[in-house]
Amino acid sequence: MSSTRRPMLRLAVLVSGSGSNLQAILDATRAGTLDARVVGVISDRPGVLALERARQAGIPAITVDYRACGGREAFGARLLEELQRLDPQLVVLAGFMRILPDAVVDHYRDRMLNVHPSLLPLYPGLDTYRRTLEAGDAWHGATVHFVIPELDAGPAILQYRIRIRPGDTVESLRQRVQRGEHRLYPQAIQWLAEGRVACRDGIVWRDGRPASGPEIVDEAD
Ligand code: GRF
Repeated sequence: MSSTRRPMLRLAVLVSGSGSNLQAILDATRAGTLDARVVGVISDRPGVLALERARQAGIPAITVDYRACGGREAFGARLLEELQRLDPQLVVLAGFMRILPDAVVDHYRDRMLNVHPSLLPLYPGLDTYRRTLEAGDAWHGATVHFVIPELDAGPAILQYRIRIRPGDTVESLRQRVQRGEHRLYPQAIQWLAEGRVACRDGIVWRDGRPASGPEIVDEAD
């Protein structure tokens, strides 16, 4: 390894469920396409598959059980404690299903990413696949964005777009969108690791210039 090589970006990953995005990130670090090291995985629920994936990879798997904390603020304080122990440079939300207290988001301002299964600003919140099908939309997808206190509203880095086909269901859309997430989330994190992308004053900067909007990647036909 050359001595000029950049140090690995230290990532903490927050999860709540199956952790397929976590797995994609771990796979990319192992494949050498993501210059990052996952220093810890934190779940707000005990016993989820994502924690097992972390253990399998030899990474600290930590549970901060929301239900046992007695409220959102106490949960936030515990989570912040664990995060500070891990000392990440970037916090990555990967299927993390809680709205974070502002104190946590503020602490990692410009250093926290999320992937959301819609073409934001369309469909913040839950149930995006059902909502897009019911609206009869032509397109759906996923957005990688910086996290701000307002839910699913932070500056977007990248969007993956799929064209909705006749006969698509919630499940078929989920599968197609997640395939894109697994490819593009590690890619977006790599841009941060390379210093190509950053968030300043609520704006995404790409290659030294304010970006006019997210980079858009379409599903291959
Ligand atoms: C992802 O599809 C992401 O868009 C959303 O939650 C889902 C979690 O999947 N935020 P996984 O836990 O990464 O498998």
